[in-house]
Amino acid sequence: AVPRDLEGVRVVVTAGGTREPLDPVRFLGNRSSGKQGYALARLAAQRGAEVTLIAAASTGLPDPPAVRVERIGTASELQSAVDAAAQDAEVVIMAAAVADFRPATRADAKMKKGAASEPDSVALTRNPDILKGLVTRRGAGGLPATRVIVGFAAETGDADGDALHHGRAKLARKGCDLLVVNTVGDDRTFGLDSNDGWLLSADGSERAIEHGSKSLMSTRILDSVTALLGDGHCR
Ligand code: PMT
Repeated sequence: AVPRDLEGVRVVVTAGGTREPLDPVRFLGNRSSGKQGYALARLAAQRGAEVTLIAAASTGLPDPPAVRVERIGTASELQSAVDAAAQDAEVVIMAAAVADFRPATRADAKMKKGAASEPDSVALTRNPDILKGLVTRRGAGGLPATRVIVGFAAETGDADGDALHHGRAKLARKGCDLLVVNTVGDDRTFGLDSNDGWLLSADGSERAIEHGSKSLMSTRILDSVTALLGDGHCR
């Protein structure tokens, strides 16, 4: 049976890949399907949490039962939604694949081949780091309810080698409480029903997560979240 160990805990989960428009018909995007974030949201609700799922509109997945779903398109929309929802959430889990860059300009009309305005390159602007922003705001006392912030690291390369190494550096950079390291690339994780990886804690502990369903991965992640909440964890 699923434990009700998150009864009444307010949890925000993000899922899916943001899309950054170039013009009304084209965008820069990524291959996240949203499945990992949805699995987390579904399980957190089953464990008793009040869940807000902020999901990329592109996911096309059915709303999980008993979960409030907000849909966003771009990283900037995701940031506004997360910042608002985090205001009274104890737990924030950033499983969304957020575009680090967006086109510097968005054309109002479809860009045409052969037109005088045909671009020969795309200038990019850096998007805000939403996860880092949450950690900074909490540190400054701006998120009084928020006790656990979970980030993800989507890394290419070997799970026990490069990916873990990059994950450790990312945990230090982002300053979140838990970081889930998983590997992505051709035929890995994106869009699949299974996942595996590592769970790194700010206290230096590291735990391998065995290969299994995204639901099993969610169980391992939420077990660590409840352990931190049970410890009275507060930074
Ligand atoms: O959706 P699926 O097909 O099921 O695939 C799941 C997944 C691989 C997308 C998921 O498990 C995952 O790893 N999500 C995070 C993807 C990602 O953006 O990783 P990153 O290493 O680029 O970012 C690190 C962390 O910072 C993430 O928590 C991300 O949400 C956050 N971030 C990144 C960039 C940015 N501008 N703002 C952020 O908050």
